[in-house]
Amino acid sequence: QLLLKLKVDYKQMTGQDYKAGCPPSENLIVSNNGPAADDCDGEDLVDPWNVSASSTKGVDYDKLIVRFGSSKIDKELLERIEKVSGQRAHHFLRRGIFFSHRDMHQILDAYEKHKSFYLYTGRGPSSEAMHVGHLIPFIFTKWLQDVFDIPLVVQMTDDEKYLWKDLTLEECHRFTVENAKDIIACGFDVNKTFIFSDLDYMGASPQFYRNVVKVQKHVTFNQVKGIFGFTDSDCIGKISFPAIQAAPSFSSSFPQIFGGKKDVPCLIPCAIDQDPYFRMTRDVAPRIGLLKPALLHSTFFPALQGAQTKMSASDPNSSIFLTDTPKQIKNKINKHAFSGGKDTVEEHRKYGGNTEVDVSFLYLTFFLEDDEKLEKIKEDYTSGALLTGELKKILIETLQPMIAQHQERRKQVTDEMVQQFMTPRPLNYKF
Ligand code: TYM
Repeated sequence: QLLLKLKVDYKQMTGQDYKAGCPPSENLIVSNNGPAADDCDGEDLVDPWNVSASSTKGVDYDKLIVRFGSSKIDKELLERIEKVSGQRAHHFLRRGIFFSHRDMHQILDAYEKHKSFYLYTGRGPSSEAMHVGHLIPFIFTKWLQDVFDIPLVVQMTDDEKYLWKDLTLEECHRFTVENAKDIIACGFDVNKTFIFSDLDYMGASPQFYRNVVKVQKHVTFNQVKGIFGFTDSDCIGKISFPAIQAAPSFSSSFPQIFGGKKDVPCLIPCAIDQDPYFRMTRDVAPRIGLLKPALLHSTFFPALQGAQTKMSASDPNSSIFLTDTPKQIKNKINKHAFSGGKDTVEEHRKYGGNTEVDVSFLYLTFFLEDDEKLEKIKEDYTSGALLTGELKKILIETLQPMIAQHQERRKQVTDEMVQQFMTPRPLNYKF
């Protein structure tokens, strides 16, 4: 994996494929804003800790579907979601941002027969500030909760962050509370949503811990080594952690919500980096007599530097944080957002820009809801009528109010509200 990443870095810096014994020739070095390099043969790397693609267009998601063995969200599934929910599909679905699934048809079959399901998603609280990429699954989960009118559980894996990062337990728990405020600010219904910290809930819920132990008994060290790449020198906390991320996929982990029912189906919206956890969960579920969770996978919100990797909180320059000021947003985009435009205005007017690699355009596909406006921007940028600076300005003017509104909503979230969301209790929903 390290070698693959080095190959990708090599190609990004030199514009040439790595060949052993052939140093890059200087005259071929491309500028940061240069045209997209061709795909190279290397496989994309996608796991819960690393995302790196070999092409400047980003991860090849069609190949990933084949490699992970999931299914594409096709036109038929989109139409079914619209029919069953009675709502136009969210633009994340229409635009292929949520692109892959496991067993979504089964969830819809059951729902059509008036059997409800619940949503499960999560966050690993590694710092106080979340970035805009983290909003993607939560915005989409909120839409699913609204259109299907169903309960949601949100796992805050403060234990995971303690095991993986150089942080104290107190810091991780504090980040849980701070991040929960951002999640609540997305507009979730308190009557239908339970947010929990692993550090608190593991000790408070005998049924949750029983499911963790069942999973632990049925997965071997060899299996987690294969799935997650753990080595002999990883601490034993990491090796057993996947069972804790698996347990909320089973309704019996939440007796206060589901009254001890074991058979309420679970749907997990997340970016595809989390899939290894749920491949393991789906593999183990029938062996412990429980239902396999269904999944909806999203693509990655790219780093400012380009779609070869995802926006990540561990690289502050790659990210726009939910705490950034309008000025910081403007500066980051103007300074760092990878451009698919040409080097000079003359060339750009003549040849046009490349929206497939342009980070500002890619960000607009996530956050500019107006389909016609987005199409017009694409046309104008591709023809050269719209310049990079102008495209960046459109993005800045889209993100600044969006983040300011998020900050305003977050300010309204009190400690009492967080407490309410995080108290184990029955939720209101009709079954
Ligand atoms: P974490 O905190 O890394 O990420 C939280 C959620 O955000 C998604 N995500 C992104 N989506 C789009 N673009 C990006 N650049 C991007 N970066 C992160 C992640 O896929 C995730 O959905 N171990 C998990 C926490 C967790 C969880 C879950 C997540 C526990 N249970 C169930 C999803 C579903 C974690 O550290 O997520």
